[in-house]
Amino acid sequence: MSLIIAIDGPSASGKGTLARSLATHLHFAYLDTGAVYRAVAHSYLEKYGPTIDLDAGVKEAILVRDHFDAKILENPALRLEDVAQMTSKLSSFLEIRAILLELQHNFAHKPPSPARGAVLDGRDIGTVVCPNATLKLFVTASTEARAQRRTKELQNKGISVIYADVLRDMAERDMRDKTRTISPTLPAEDAIILDTSDLTADDVFAKALELAKMRGITA
Ligand code: DC
Repeated sequence: MSLIIAIDGPSASGKGTLARSLATHLHFAYLDTGAVYRAVAHSYLEKYGPTIDLDAGVKEAILVRDHFDAKILENPALRLEDVAQMTSKLSSFLEIRAILLELQHNFAHKPPSPARGAVLDGRDIGTVVCPNATLKLFVTASTEARAQRRTKELQNKGISVIYADVLRDMAERDMRDKTRTISPTLPAEDAIILDTSDLTADDVFAKALELAKMRGITA
């Protein structure tokens, strides 16, 4: 059986950085499931524009699942705000989640060779996708700390943004992701909560490695 680390949490909580570092250190495969949802929303926006149509969304999800290539997840356009907002909307449909669940489940249980385990990050990995994960972490931080990080990240990429706008968009998206009835962003009962508001990425990584070791996961 493959070792699985499930990392959930809201956007800009530091979960992606942590997931990537853990996967590299442990030689595990890594899947950014938010990017999978974003890939669906990105091609949806290109073909159908900003109006929501469930049948079209389902079609795009099937295309991404059936022709999955991890390279598409590196497309910088997936990070744009209109894609983020569309992702948050499309990901609230059960029909779309069910299609992508299969992809995520397969990745977790049969990670690409030679990885002996998988790290997945998202919103419902510990609750829905991998309820039997070896280790479940819920990474979070205050909305202000997360908005500050996201503003810096975008500005470093040369994108001109204002903190107040980032904070507003983030709060809006958080609310939708947290209050939706299907797979809301919530920690699993057996998840360990890591609040990263006052921690550096290195602190979070060290803490997570310690927790992984306690579950028998070592490099
Ligand atoms: O983590 P992120 O910001 O890349 O996620 C983008 C959106 O996708 C976010 O609004 C929530 C949604 N998402 C989801 O519903 N389930 C996941 N497992 C991952 C992301």
